[in-house]
Amino acid sequence: MANASGFLGSSVPALRRATQHSISSSRGSSSEFVSKRVFCCSAVQDSDRQSLGDSRSPRLVSRGCKLIGSGSAIPALQVSNDDLAKIVDTNDEWITVRTGIRNRRVLSGKDSLTNLASEAARKALEMAQVDANDVDMVLMCTSTPEDLFGSAPQISKALGCKKNPLSYDITAACSGFVLGLVSAACHIRGGGFNNILVIGADSLSRYVDWTDRGTCILFGDAAGAVVVQSCDAEEDGLFAFDLHSDGDGQRHLKAAIKEDEVDKALGHNGSIRDFPPRRSSYSCIQMNGKEVFRFACRSVPQSIESALGKAGLNGSNIDWLLLHQANQRIIDAVATRLEVPQERIISNLANYGNTSAASIPLALDEAVRSGNVKPGHVIATAGFGAGLTWGSAIIRWG
Ligand code: ACO
Repeated sequence: MANASGFLGSSVPALRRATQHSISSSRGSSSEFVSKRVFCCSAVQDSDRQSLGDSRSPRLVSRGCKLIGSGSAIPALQVSNDDLAKIVDTNDEWITVRTGIRNRRVLSGKDSLTNLASEAARKALEMAQVDANDVDMVLMCTSTPEDLFGSAPQISKALGCKKNPLSYDITAACSGFVLGLVSAACHIRGGGFNNILVIGADSLSRYVDWTDRGTCILFGDAAGAVVVQSCDAEEDGLFAFDLHSDGDGQRHLKAAIKEDEVDKALGHNGSIRDFPPRRSSYSCIQMNGKEVFRFACRSVPQSIESALGKAGLNGSNIDWLLLHQANQRIIDAVATRLEVPQERIISNLANYGNTSAASIPLALDEAVRSGNVKPGHVIATAGFGAGLTWGSAIIRWG
């Protein structure tokens, strides 16, 4: 079974020794230093299945997964700090100094998050040179679906995937994309899937209280996507991961169902009262910024260090640090703790604000298309946010 160690098995110490030797001999060739992974998975090759017949235990085969394409999409409407200063008591200097954010994109008019996610996914497929009909799973990581029952099947329809690939939503707020990546790896390693689209897309602007200057300055809307493809175990591009949640911390960051609209139909002694119940809706985002800030600065470095340790790496071995884009001060604090220099930090927060599940694939896509992230580069990525949820993954691009 997969475990929180990111599928590392009993030969990890040997792997670490080999890895560390390789790292010390050449920092520049990060693609080489994690060459062998150890897996526990249950994918069965078709030929094996036929030759074994149903009555015998199938032979387990190891598959790896790699990231081979990215795409992103943003709404047309740009909202600057100065624009916000016209509707709440704030100013560009305060927002820039406290958060690093200067602009954000906001869905407007007939814009749809599902369309944005489909556009990002289409671009990722194009880069990966994978036909929509060869996609066998679509994971839509979002907390703001346009259908309560999930958006992923609509995206697979919009992409023209004719084979009805399994498509479903994952809700884990700003950690959603990291969770989606790990889920894709699990499906490939243990489920026999070949091409999985992992999309991170959110439109938190729809749930922001635009009169609350403590939150409305932070968020923006966007979509990003990657194609994760099965490969030989030796080429595996997810070295390790570390995932957590803490329901107790939910009080610091939530957009909960409105309490006065919760079903009050059940009276005493099982009698019917006040029926039918009113339609439910969610409250706007409520956040204790200071607590969330402390949580992020404490938990994110721990999680990345844990994942790096499982992969036999440390901060000096990674090519890029790519955190959920929430606050530049959080990004800088984590980088300092991990001893990652400024030039190896990926940040586009100034242009888009906090785009929740979209922030990591959006920043990754920009970094790939600008040529900064190259095939073979090792990236430490981490998401954190509502739930509370947080987690990290050590990945190789390409
Ligand atoms: N403009 C001007 N002043 C402001 C603003 C604003 N937009 N917002 C707050 N202030 C004021 C406050 O009223 C307060 O004034 P006071 O001292 O007179 O009481 C002062 O500025 C300081 O406010 P704080 O809330 O203490 O400011 P802080 O330095 O903590 O910054 C911030 C607030 C930016 C929200 C920060 O706490 C933060 O980024 N927290 C983390 C948020 C986050 O990362 N969320 C990620 C998850 S999101 C998700 O999962 C959906």
